Amino acid sequence: MQNNIFSGLFVGQNFVTIKEVDSTNNFLKQLASNSKPVIEGTVIMAENQTAGRGQQQNGWHAEPGKNLTFSLLLKPSFLPVTQQFDLVRAVSLGVFDALHPLLGDGLKIKWPNDIYYGNRKLGGMLIENMIQGGQIKNAIVGIGLNINQQTFPDYLPNATSVKQILQQDYDLKTLLSDICHHIEAYYLNLKAGKILFVRETYLTRLYWLNEQKEYKSKEGQFAGTIKSVKDNGILVVENNNHEELEFSLKEIEFVN
Ligand code: BTN
Repeated sequence: MQNNIFSGLFVGQNFVTIKEVDSTNNFLKQLASNSKPVIEGTVIMAENQTAGRGQQQNGWHAEPGKNLTFSLLLKPSFLPVTQQFDLVRAVSLGVFDALHPLLGDGLKIKWPNDIYYGNRKLGGMLIENMIQGGQIKNAIVGIGLNINQQTFPDYLPNATSVKQILQQDYDLKTLLSDICHHIEAYYLNLKAGKILFVRETYLTRLYWLNEQKEYKSKEGQFAGTIKSVKDNGILVVENNNHEELEFSLKEIEFVN
């Protein structure tokens, strides 16, 4: 494919494994802001992150050598800044599609971009967009997935891994290659303007979609049902009074 941004993934051209780094997102961000251009599709994978970063200023825990912790560089200058959430959708779906053949229907995307199996978190992503002149110049797509780790610290009671689910070890680089190719497929759909397809597919993969569940907002706990996700990524939950409430990330908590 002419447009294939990951075609050089394992020819050493744009794939780098690092033994130890603070955070692959920090590393790639730094690299991309140097004067020498970094090509789209560059992937930085770390065996160990000493200061892995998660959503909302949290850290990201991963036992060295057992998991996927990597960042990839995209240059979605074709995507209006107001449509940044479509990139979240495309990347989440790419990860989902790569893992679905292994894990089956217990796999879901928990809004906005956590990867869940059953009620447990298998991984997540931290996408950092560098905006210049009204365009997304670089998107640093950081992905952390628990693969071969068997146990998690007590402060992560909700974490799971592919190993815990399937009792089997998986080759990290094979999985990484698969994930990148699936992300690329959705990314090319976005680029080709097939945005509705990406949005609709994302919705169908959502954890707790159309199920009545408990949530917490600043108004307190309530029963509600996820109905949709707006174009800009806002979550729409219907309460028992048939009112559609809208939430951004920090405004709602899923109650297990
Ligand atoms: C989350 O909180 O769910 C997001 C986790 C993102 C972790 C990944 S690991 C690779 C990349 N480098 C980082 O420092 N964070 C992301």
